[in-house]
Amino acid sequence: MDAEFWLAKWDRNEIGFHAQHPHDGLVQYFPTVCVPPGCHVFVPLCGKTLDIHWLVKKGYTVSGVELSRRAVEQLFDELEIQPVISSLTTDVTVFEGDGLRIFVADIFALTPSMLGQVDAVYDRAALVALPAASRAEYAQLLVGLSQCATQFLICVEYDQIKLSGPPFAVMESDVEHYYARYYSIKSISRYPVANGIKGKVPGYEHIWLLKPSEVRS
Ligand SMILES: C[S@@+](CC[C@H](N)C(=O)[O-])C[C@H]1O[C@@H](n2cnc3c(N)ncnc32)[C@H](O)[C@@H]1O
Repeated sequence: MDAEFWLAKWDRNEIGFHAQHPHDGLVQYFPTVCVPPGCHVFVPLCGKTLDIHWLVKKGYTVSGVELSRRAVEQLFDELEIQPVISSLTTDVTVFEGDGLRIFVADIFALTPSMLGQVDAVYDRAALVALPAASRAEYAQLLVGLSQCATQFLICVEYDQIKLSGPPFAVMESDVEHYYARYYSIKSISRYPVANGIKGKVPGYEHIWLLKPSEVRS
């Protein structure tokens, strides 16, 4: 899944991952188990998710990163926010307005100083969008970028033999493999996905809360 894969998806409007309502788990759990309104939330690989609409309307300050400029233009249009657009580097452009800031970039081009201090990370369809070969590097990057901020992580679990991703199956052992060095990991909710993964194979969504450990190695 290189950049061309995702940019082509946006260009062809093949965005089956884009949900038509904010994620139920976000609405139900995020303000109480993760961080309250007013906090700064980082949304990696954000697309034009309605989760950002919900977070902004709840009073969170939101930063995101997304490869596709088309997606980010649509996000601001749909929110009816007129962005101020500036180039930070040749590879990183930023759209800003009304408590929302989205970097148009490959997440691997972001630095902690560009992002600044964040209170929490909201990862829905980001870790699971990446193939196994780049997931560990992404997880490590996210820990560094967010300076080990609390994470609200939504994974999908299914038999990877029966279906190729994305979304890729990320099981409990994978979450532990990527994050147990940095976080205490708590299961918040696990439930079957209605109609299965991509309507094809049975699977579950699993919501995790990752809280920074006292002692980090
Ligand atoms: C499965 S979609 C999920 C989007 C969003 N989180 C949602 O829930 O609707 C993954 C998104 O990540 C973006 N993306 C993929 N790789 C990326 C990267 N390395 N850096 C930034 N964005 C990336 C894609 O363009 C796509 O919009």
